[in-house]
Parts: sequence; C-alpha cells; structure tokens
Amino acid sequence: MLDGLRWLPERASTLAGQVDALFFFLVAVSLFFAGLIFVLVAVFALKYRRRSEDERPKAIHGSLVLEGLWTVVPLGIALAIFVWGAYLYFAMSRPPAAATEIYVVGKQWMWKLQHPGGQREINELHVPVNRPVKLTMTSEDVIHSFYVPAFRIKADVVPGKYTSAWFEATKTGEYHLFCAEYCGTSHALMGGRIVVMTAADYERWLAGGVAEEPLPAAGEKLFARLGCNSCHRADGGGRGPSLVGRFGRSEKMASGETVAIDEGYLRESILNPQAKLVVGYAPIMPTFKGLISEDGLLQLVAYIKSLGMADGTKAKP
Ligand code: CUA
Repeated sequence: MLDGLRWLPERASTLAGQVDALFFFLVAVSLFFAGLIFVLVAVFALKYRRRSEDERPKAIHGSLVLEGLWTVVPLGIALAIFVWGAYLYFAMSRPPAAATEIYVVGKQWMWKLQHPGGQREINELHVPVNRPVKLTMTSEDVIHSFYVPAFRIKADVVPGKYTSAWFEATKTGEYHLFCAEYCGTSHALMGGRIVVMTAADYERWLAGGVAEEPLPAAGEKLFARLGCNSCHRADGGGRGPSLVGRFGRSEKMASGETVAIDEGYLRESILNPQAKLVVGYAPIMPTFKGLISEDGLLQLVAYIKSLGMADGTKAKP
C-alpha cells in the first residue's frame, strides 16, 4: 500500500536532478536556520535569565564583527540561491536547437498534441528517450498549465500566445501529465500520460499511427487556401515579404525596433498584421482573426519554418 508513496516524484528527465538539488539546498538552509533559532532561543533564555529582582543587565553597545557577519553571511547565501536559480531557469527555458517539436493546444478539458509528422494525440504524448523535446503551447480558451512532475516541468498554457517548455526524458516508462492551473469544472480530470519509448519503439509508433498529413504540408495547403501565397511569394516579388529563410532572423520594423521572427511573431502577424510591420512594406495585410483555428495557426507556423531557417537549416519534418 505504501509502494506508491514517495517524498518526491520519480526523476525522469535531465533537469530533474538539478531541480531537486536546488530544492534540497533550500530545504537544508531553511531547516538549519529554523533549528539554529530554536536552539538559540532556548540557550539564551536559560543563560541570560534574570536571577534576582535587583539584577541589572550590562549595557551592550553593539559589535561590528557580529553585525558584519549577520549581514554578509545571509547576503552570500541569498546570492548563491539567486545565481543557482537563475542558471537553472535559463537551462530550463532554452531548449537545445536539435529538439523535436511537439505542438500542444490546451482546451477545457483536454490536451491536444501533435507531432511534426502530423500524428495527433489526445491526453497522451509519445516521445523518444534521451532526445530533447520542445513543446510549443497555446490554449483555445482559458489558462491551463502543462505539468509533468517526473520531468520537473510546469509551464502556463495561455490563450492568445505561445509559451514553450522542453525536456529530455532519461528513462522509458509512463509519466503523469497534469493541468496545474484551475480551469473550470473538470480541471481535475484534465490530465494524461507521457509515454517515453526507446528510439526504435518510437519510430515504430510514429509509423503505426493513423497517417495524417505532416504539419508543414497541411500548413502549405492552408497558406494557399487563405491566399497568403498571392502576396508572400517565394520569389520575393509579392506585395508582402517572401517567407523563405525568414524564420529565426531578426528584422527591422517600421517602428525602428528590431524583432526576432519566432513562433510568437508569426502568430501575432497573422492575427494582427499591423502590430509589428517589417520596414519597407505597406500595412495592407488583412487580419485573419477568427478565420484560423489554433491548429491552423500551428500548421502555418510549421510551414513557414519548413521554408528554411535563417541559418540555412530546414525544420525537421
Ligand atoms: Cu486545464 Cu486546469
């Protein structure tokens, strides 16, 4: 009965150990100082208790050494926690360039996940072991939170923007997926599992799924259907910028600022084209708000990525 009882969830990602190490350090520091204060309260109460009615304690005029110590030591500890935490935060928020991309759409009350090859899953995600996986996430309705305790990742999934998280699973097996943001009546049921497989099993799983169209191909069709290609011509002769080799670049905007062309920028430019206009182009693009679903937006993003990255590489299919 106590088998499933453990103090911390299993550690099954490359970052899990580091997150736990920081957590243990924080607990240790807290316990040490809580203990120290308890002991000192008891010792001082005994040692300095008033022994008679007319006892007058000696006046104390401060101690530079003591005051220096209790300033410098906590400062050092707090800075160590800050540097350690910041280091880990950056490690967790920067996915490796080679990461496999998975697209996640949260809605009341389920997780919809899609692989770049088009395979769709609901409340289940199959991933290969020992390979980094990047999640690009958005929501169709309210704020959800993608939480996998065994990987020590938790990231808000917010309507109207893309957020991301990444992990590299270190052990095959099944791990719980939760929604960690109260999102309505069935919030508690909004969960599922992450299935971590060996590379060979994963390839077999990918091949065995119902073959849907790969995301970039679906995006290309949508691109044509919505007429995007009449202005965003590949040869650059259209009224809008060519999208070939754009992704990952930094572009100068009409406002003078320089903006990175990433998933969030593409999304904003499709729904609100005038928000950040690349310098040299007229504000003639209409909005596509209400005309494209979240799934469709992700397809378009995947297609534009497949047109080539700024560094000359192609997005993996
Ligand atoms: Cu979705 Cu809670």
